[in-house]
Amino acid sequence: ESKGDFSGKKVALTMGPTQEAIDPVRFISNHSSGKMGLALAEAFLERGAEVWVISGPVAIPVNKEKFHWKDVNSAEEMFHAASAIHSQMDIVVFTAAVADYAPATVATEKIKKDEDAMQIRLKKNVDIAKELGSKKQPKQFHVGFALETENEEFHAKEKLQRKNFDLIVLNSMKESGAGFRLDTNRVTVFSKNGGQWKSPLASKSEIAQLILDHIKRESSWTLI
Ligand code: PMT
Repeated sequence: ESKGDFSGKKVALTMGPTQEAIDPVRFISNHSSGKMGLALAEAFLERGAEVWVISGPVAIPVNKEKFHWKDVNSAEEMFHAASAIHSQMDIVVFTAAVADYAPATVATEKIKKDEDAMQIRLKKNVDIAKELGSKKQPKQFHVGFALETENEEFHAKEKLQRKNFDLIVLNSMKESGAGFRLDTNRVTVFSKNGGQWKSPLASKSEIAQLILDHIKRESSWTLI
């Protein structure tokens, strides 16, 4: 950790879950609390970067004034907010747990419980990291996350390639102390250059600092 080593850098982060509306009172979502994303946003700020945060609905306390902060609900909204600023960024970190599917249509009124069983038809959401990955400029550095429950390393490396990340951070649901909602995490980082590194179990703030050290080491620009 060294103060100011990211000064002059513009960083965008997606964080938290997305909520995909079913009707005016219900949605599909996941367990992301936003803690890992916020820890990274704080670490970048501490080390001198200017930070844009695009956050799904989260309930953790945060001083939004320190950041360029944008609240969104759905994957579609997150995509539009990220697309609008992407070309000006030096580093983009995709920590959000984006819902892969959303209801194909959103009911305008609350759905009544008339039937004993019901079906919701889903459509695939836009893959924010993949879309922006296809627009990545040579000076830009993209960091992805992967949350896996099986074949962790294989899936993480496949996502690193497919989404054009420079670095991917894997958290495994199999490891105790890692993943959703907790204040701690344990991650494995894979770089597109073949590097691989495993972290200890540590607080999300400490993990964030270590991830920044890796970004600094793996990126092409020289940070002092
Ligand atoms: O928020 P916390 O409670 O602290 O938990 C942190 C976390 C576990 C959510 C976080 O560390 C994490 O792993 N986030 C990514 C979880 C995830 O959705 O992974 P994925 O394997 O589905 O997606 C791979 C990558 O593509 C991610 O960088 C994701 O942001 C991105 N993605 C995925 C789908 C999509 N439609 N758009 C995307 O941008």
